[in-house]
Amino acid sequence: MSDPLPADLAEPLVASSRRRRGFGDPTIYFAETGSTNDVAARLAEQGAAEGTIVLASAQTAGRGRMGRVWHSPADAGLYVSAICRSARAAPYLTLAGGVATAEAVSAATGLPVEIKWPNDVVVISGVPRRRRKLAGVLAEGVSTTDGLQHVILGIGINIRPAAYPPEFADRATSIETELGRAVDRGALLVEVLVVLGELLRDLSSGQSANLLARWRALAPSAQGAPLECDSPAGLLTGTAAGIAEDGALLVRVGDRIERVVSGEIRWK
Ligand code: BTN
Repeated sequence: MSDPLPADLAEPLVASSRRRRGFGDPTIYFAETGSTNDVAARLAEQGAAEGTIVLASAQTAGRGRMGRVWHSPADAGLYVSAICRSARAAPYLTLAGGVATAEAVSAATGLPVEIKWPNDVVVISGVPRRRRKLAGVLAEGVSTTDGLQHVILGIGINIRPAAYPPEFADRATSIETELGRAVDRGALLVEVLVVLGELLRDLSSGQSANLLARWRALAPSAQGAPLECDSPAGLLTGTAAGIAEDGALLVRVGDRIERVVSGEIRWK
């Protein structure tokens, strides 16, 4: 059973109904749940439409990429999962989640952010300047012999410092840590939904150029930064050389270009 939507989320959702063009309707809210991605996947299996979202104030089993835990204490972050059904959009959803999150954070709070491939949203701040993670995106798809059934796009944004354990402070941050003031999670949610809905409409009609241009503008480190990453062929050490049209990271290693489609990169 879901819970009634708190007023600080319900009011901005109602007020933004036209801007969202239905993306985020219905919103299924839980004060606490295991993982919003799991709840959204169950709803998708039962036939819930694209644009349905599941939102929680706390998750007891929040998960991140590569099997990691996503810390999700009560009222410390935005934890939201959206049901996507377009097979045409599916290959780009990871990038779309990163762009929607990054643009939403900047629009709702004014905080400048960047994307670290594929979709970590980071802030570069402090002395010495460091890259700290503010938000992450987890895309989980289900296909059958009939083709793609759904992709659940889960987004976690650290709003308050309580969102992550204090020992992660050298590599994680929150919007309030960076800005030194409280932020409105309802306004942040609305911006995520407006941008994500717009990107998905484009992608579903076969247009990916706009998304790729926006992703590239948000990810200057994807062009020329020294990095290393694990690949099926072993450790790759090189420099980022942009992203391919399908979203793969291109890495220059000596005189050849390698494609990286999954995994994690480490900046050197
Ligand atoms: C990452 O590792 O960077 C991805 C983190 C994704 C976290 C979000 S929070 C909402 C949704 N529910 C989950 O269990 N995970 C995603």
